Amino acid sequence: MSEITRFGVSINENLLNAFDELIEKEKYNNRSDAIRDLIREKLVMASWKDDDKDVVGTITIIYDHHSSDITENLVHIQHDDYKSVISTTHIHLDEHNCLEVLIVNGKSGKIKNIAENLLRAKGVKHGKLTMTVKGDEL
Ligand code: NI
Repeated sequence: MSEITRFGVSINENLLNAFDELIEKEKYNNRSDAIRDLIREKLVMASWKDDDKDVVGTITIIYDHHSSDITENLVHIQHDDYKSVISTTHIHLDEHNCLEVLIVNGKSGKIKNIAENLLRAKGVKHGKLTMTVKGDEL
């Protein structure tokens, strides 16, 4: 862990008041904790904007397995980039619907591409890519 540094921030009063209200609602203990989280969020998002950063994340999808050849398509997309898909968990929610969560790891551009292909596959009802990083730089 690196050393802790203190720094001052110049900010207008209205903005600071709004921030204080927000962090109270979100139950932060103090401004420092809240600001650290904002900076981390910004850094994570910056890594994902760049296509060649090493990132990790999860892709969650909900689909009806009766929908045409969706099962085959989803498996095909995952095999195309099998090195990026570390793990997959599949739950049968009811007679029709499946929930699948993929843990993904690799270059941000490639992971975004896998997520786009899965989320727009015919028959996928809902899904989300959760973007994070390994954490060394945070
Ligand atoms: Ni299923």
